[in-house]
Amino acid sequence: MAKIIDGKAISRAIRCEIAEAVKKMDVKPGLAVVLVGDDPASAVYVRNKKRACEETGIRSESYELPCSTTEEELLSLIGTLNKKSDINGILVQLPLPKHIDENKVILAIDPKKDVDAFHPYNVGKIVTGDYDFAPCTPKGVMSLLERSGIEVEGKTCVVVGRSNIVGKPQALLLTHANGTVTVCHSRTRNLKQVCLTADILVVAIGKADFITGDMIKEGAVVIDVGMNRKDDGKLTGDVDFASAEPKASYITPVPGGVGPMTITTLLENTLTAAKMSLGKDTE
Ligand code: GUN
Repeated sequence: MAKIIDGKAISRAIRCEIAEAVKKMDVKPGLAVVLVGDDPASAVYVRNKKRACEETGIRSESYELPCSTTEEELLSLIGTLNKKSDINGILVQLPLPKHIDENKVILAIDPKKDVDAFHPYNVGKIVTGDYDFAPCTPKGVMSLLERSGIEVEGKTCVVVGRSNIVGKPQALLLTHANGTVTVCHSRTRNLKQVCLTADILVVAIGKADFITGDMIKEGAVVIDVGMNRKDDGKLTGDVDFASAEPKASYITPVPGGVGPMTITTLLENTLTAAKMSLGKDTE
């Protein structure tokens, strides 16, 4: 029987710590959340981000713009937010409507306010290991491992998925934690054999129930980053929980595993940005 990593409980504990830290600050951290268009999933994420800010005492400003917003208008808003001294973090919810170039938008965000860590400046800092922010989901996974007492050092880690938001930065964070990391993707040959080497398996491939128990080494730690909506409306991960759980030593459920950690890490990054703006130690 695997131990279930309770992302909700770990998230709650971290949010309490953030709220305590915010309470001690004379000036509350401020996060701007920008949503363009009417994608229902994005609207839910944005609502949850605002609610999490309220819970922890972080001030949030939301900018909900119509789908017809031009790239120029969005870039102009980002320019304004970059200059606002009471805004420490800027989050532009992705994906953006097709007529807006996401790369241009990411490049326009002041790296010191880039709480998603998507700007190439911050991406470069993550590569070298000298970073202030790490992307929310991979950093959330590292917090889950740490708070569950799971050592990464010396372990064989396999990351399934190579996206810029999760897979690539996840591989870097595990490497910085002294794991030995392999990144797999849709063109990987012998995926099953590679997965079977993993002491820690992180799956972020975006395919429902893609990793099954026969691909998991006995006693492995299984972290499921997937969030797929099934035909019946239920959420399911990228790992087939029923067949994986008997093989794993630890496993994250979906929902209630990695999911809650993404927003919690966003709050952590906003607090870090606010402390940086005050020139305070971020520890
Ligand atoms: N869309 C899906 N995940 C994310 C995220 O972590 N940050 C932003 N900005 N947009 C997203």
